[in-house]
Amino acid sequence: MNAYAQLRDRLSAAPSRWLVTGVAGFIGSNLLEHLLGLGQTVVGLDNFLTGYQKNLDMVHAAVGEEAWSRFTFIKGDIRDLETCRRACADVEHVLHEAALGSVPRSIDDPLLSNGCNIDGFLNMLVAARDAGTKSFVYAASSSTYGDSPELPKVEDRIGRPLSPYAVTKYVDELYADVFARCYGVASIGLRYFNVFGQRQDPYGAYAAVIPQWFASLIKGETVYINGDGETSRDFCYIDNVVQANLLASMAEGDAQNRIYNVAFGQRTTLNELFVLIREEVSRHRSAAATAGPVHRDFRAGDVRHSLADISRARDLLGYAPRYDVREGLRLAGDWYAANL
Ligand SMILES: NC(=O)c1ccc[n+]([C@@H]2O[C@H](COP(=O)([O-])OP(=O)(O)OC[C@H]3O[C@@H](n4cnc5c(N)ncnc54)[C@H](O)[C@@H]3O)[C@@H](O)[C@H]2O)c1
Repeated sequence: MNAYAQLRDRLSAAPSRWLVTGVAGFIGSNLLEHLLGLGQTVVGLDNFLTGYQKNLDMVHAAVGEEAWSRFTFIKGDIRDLETCRRACADVEHVLHEAALGSVPRSIDDPLLSNGCNIDGFLNMLVAARDAGTKSFVYAASSSTYGDSPELPKVEDRIGRPLSPYAVTKYVDELYADVFARCYGVASIGLRYFNVFGQRQDPYGAYAAVIPQWFASLIKGETVYINGDGETSRDFCYIDNVVQANLLASMAEGDAQNRIYNVAFGQRTTLNELFVLIREEVSRHRSAAATAGPVHRDFRAGDVRHSLADISRARDLLGYAPRYDVREGLRLAGDWYAANL
C-alpha cells in the first residue's frame, strides 16, 4: 500500500478538524469534497471574490447529507485578521488556498493581488500561530521560478519574478520561512504547476487555458493560442494536488518547513494540449474534431517553459501522482461536457 492509501486509511479511522480557505474556489472545493469523503470535519472560508456558491452546492450534492453536516462555512475575507482567527479556532490542519490567482490579473491590479496574497496570507499565518494549529499547508506557485531558464525546476533554484502575482507567492514563502524561525510555526508550501480539473472556472478574462479551451470547443467558439503554441507547461490534474495537500499536512520532522513542487513531471506544449482537448471534446461533440486554433500575440508575464522536478515531494512526502495529463483531461472533459 502506498503512502497516500495508508494516510487515507489513517484519516478515516481517526478524523481531524480542518480549515480550507478559498473553499468555494476550484482547488479548495476539491479539497473539501475529498476531506468530507474521508469523514473529516471541515471549516471553510471564502469571500466569493473568484469562488462560487455553486461549487459548494456541487460538493454538497456529491458527498450527501451526513458528510455535509460536518462542514461549516464562514463567508469572510482573509484580509480581516479577526475573520482568520475565527476560522482557525479549534482547527488542527490548515489548507490555505485563498488568494487571487492569474498572472494577468495581478498585472492589471497589483494592489488587489498584494492585499489578498500577502496581507491575507500574513493574517492567516498569525491566526494559525496563535491558534496553535498542528499544520499549515499553503498554495505556493510555480510562477516563483520566474525567468530562470533551468529545466526541470528544482525547488532551491529560482529566478526573478515576472509578475506581481509571482512576487506575492514568493513573499508568502519568505513569510512562512520566517514564521518557522521566529515562532516555530511549522508550514509547507506547495508550488502548484498549472492545476486543472472539475470546477475550474472557464469564464472571464482571467480563465486558465484548459477550462477556457474546453468551453470554447464545447460551444463551437474559436480557441486562441497565445504565441506560437510551443510554450510548454507541466499540467497537473486536481486529484494529484489533493494528494499532495493531505500528505503535506501529515508531514513530520525534516519534511516540514519546506517548499515542494506539485506537478506530474511531464511537459506538454500548448499545441499538443489543443490536440488532446479537441480529442476529448470530439467524444461529446463530433463537430469539434475539425476545429483549428487561432494564434495571437504572446502574453506579458508568461514564462516560456515549465517542467517540475517532483523528486523532493516523492522522496520526503511519498507523493505519487496518479493522473497524467491525458487521463486528467479525460476526466475533466467528461465533467465540462456534463456541466457547461
Ligand atoms: N489553479 C492553478 O493552476 C494554480 C497554480 C498555482 C497556484 N495556485 C494557487 O492555488 C490557490 C487556489 O487557486 P484556484 O485555482 O483554486 O483559484 P480560485 O480562484 O478558483 O480559488 C481561490 C478562492 O479564494 C477565494 N479568495 C480570494 N481572495 C480571498 C480573500 N481575500 N478572502 C477570502 N477568500 C478569498 C476566492 O473567492 C476563491 O474561491 C491560490 O492560492 C492560487 O494562487 C493555483
